[in-house]
Amino acid sequence: MTAIAGPTVTVAHSRLHSAVGAFLAGHGVPEERALLAAEALVHGDLTGMDSHGVFNLARLYHPLLASGRARPDAEPRIANDLGACLLLDHRRALGLWAAAESMDLAVARARRHGVGLVSVRGATHLGCAGFHAARAARAGLVGVVASNCGGQRIAGPPGGRPALLGTNPLSVAAPALPERPFVLDMSTTVVPTGRVRVAAANGREVPAGWLENADGATVTDPAAFDRGDARLRWLGGTPENGAHKGFGLGLAVELLAALLPGAAVGPVPEALAGDGRPHGTDDDIGLLLLAIDPDMLRAVPGAFADASRSVFATVRDCPPLGEEPVRYPGWWEAERAAERRAHGVPLPAALHSELTELGLELPVLEAHR
Ligand SMILES: NC(=O)c1ccc[n+]([C@@H]2O[C@H](COP(=O)([O-])OP(=O)(O)OC[C@H]3O[C@@H](n4cnc5c(N)ncnc54)[C@H](O)[C@@H]3O)[C@@H](O)[C@H]2O)c1
Repeated sequence: MTAIAGPTVTVAHSRLHSAVGAFLAGHGVPEERALLAAEALVHGDLTGMDSHGVFNLARLYHPLLASGRARPDAEPRIANDLGACLLLDHRRALGLWAAAESMDLAVARARRHGVGLVSVRGATHLGCAGFHAARAARAGLVGVVASNCGGQRIAGPPGGRPALLGTNPLSVAAPALPERPFVLDMSTTVVPTGRVRVAAANGREVPAGWLENADGATVTDPAAFDRGDARLRWLGGTPENGAHKGFGLGLAVELLAALLPGAAVGPVPEALAGDGRPHGTDDDIGLLLLAIDPDMLRAVPGAFADASRSVFATVRDCPPLGEEPVRYPGWWEAERAAERRAHGVPLPAALHSELTELGLELPVLEAHR
């Protein structure tokens, strides 16, 4: 989660959703898909993953559509259909809706075959991976989503000079307690780039451990990232603290999401000449969307759901070390989403102005200094 600093305003969730939908429809995305894409984008603001919410509309999705790097009216094409698994070409469709539709396809195939795997090339940025994985959990299934970042290179191997991979998000979701699914949703680098940019926009230093310069030394100035003077570290941070595991997870995502379908990959021989600075573009992203139907697998309807409830209730009931209760991934995001659906979504005032300048109509419910 990203903490919002400085003046904020609160806007109604329904208005934020419809305004983003109207904006995308105004750029040629078919209306129903524009609303689905808006739901995926606003999911970031609802759940507190605001590095991947409407903050990215002006920075990422509008430029993608305006430049033609994402095609508003693209229709994904099935390149191979084996029943339980499919290869799709998203043909530069907006990843926010296309990944959601592909997960729904994986769920439909899992209901028929026990497992549904949709492997995608030609994709664009899908936003929060967890939004798409949670669609499977909502249907009572286990969902796995992985995305590489095309040919965008942001982080290098621990101890290696050139940047070779992107922030490669990974999500696993499953039914757990009622209204509180398990949704692990994370970048495999220590944070995603959006968290660094949010810190830069708020004028705050980032904690030691997020960024390093080309020599591997710690950087805390978030603006150094967009200047090309810093790159992200992997989960774990330093090799002594497990960075090889984060790097290994990043490579596993590259393999599952991009090598399998034949999408663009970060590690290409030309990248070895890099000086450690981030480089490359996130075109031709690869995705893995996997759904597993536990009832078909176990052949005892409800057995998995009962066992899952017990596991996650045990985690929830774990005695805490301090004041903060113990919760599992996805819990706080669901709490925040319920609260913000009912009482409004907080946005930095500067972001609200930026969205208004883009033409979004977003009446302010409350303003806080
Ligand atoms: N599309 C892309 O290319 C891309 C790249 C990187 C990240 N992302 C997205 O960015 C978003 C943010 O990623 P992030 O790595 O900053 O996530 P994060 O660090 O905020 O959270 C990571 C995970 O930890 C869990 N968690 C956090 N605090 C917890 C607590 N106190 N108790 C229990 N669980 C807790 C969360 O539920 C989440 O599953 C994600 O939606 C991710 O998919 C997208």
